[in-house]
Amino acid sequence: MNMKLTIPLLLALLLAPAVQAAPFAKGDAKAGKALHDKQCVACHIGRFGGDGSKIYTRADHRMKSAASLAQQITTCNANLGNNLFPEDEANIGAYLNQTFYKFK
Ligand code: HEC
Repeated sequence: MNMKLTIPLLLALLLAPAVQAAPFAKGDAKAGKALHDKQCVACHIGRFGGDGSKIYTRADHRMKSAASLAQQITTCNANLGNNLFPEDEANIGAYLNQTFYKFK
């Protein structure tokens, strides 16, 4: 590919998340829920009981922004041995944000 085109294209891809209209707009919440239920929920239930969702809805839950949510998903993914691809994390972000956090 022509280098004059490649570099701006790569930059656009890198910068895209920062200018995204809604947080996790590109994520697929349905795919995210399936992954979340399979990979994430058991550990949260172990700590918070019930269906594990209290971790997101407790009064003193820690996520204050879409950016912190994205960071925490990455951190928790590291607990799993980094099983997930960035697009998986975006899908889970879309699911958690639409269902619990509602960050704009
Ligand atoms: C090995 C256990 C474990 C696994 C696996 C795990 N988590 Fe967590 N997660 C935690 C613990 C413990 C906390 C609470 C940390 C705290 O309160 O300081 C947490 C907190 C969170 C929070 C922040 C909740 C809030 O608002 O305060 C999010 C979001 C989250 N996890 C997402 C995920 C996702 C997504 C996955 C799957 C990719 C996942 N976690 C897998 C243990 C885990």
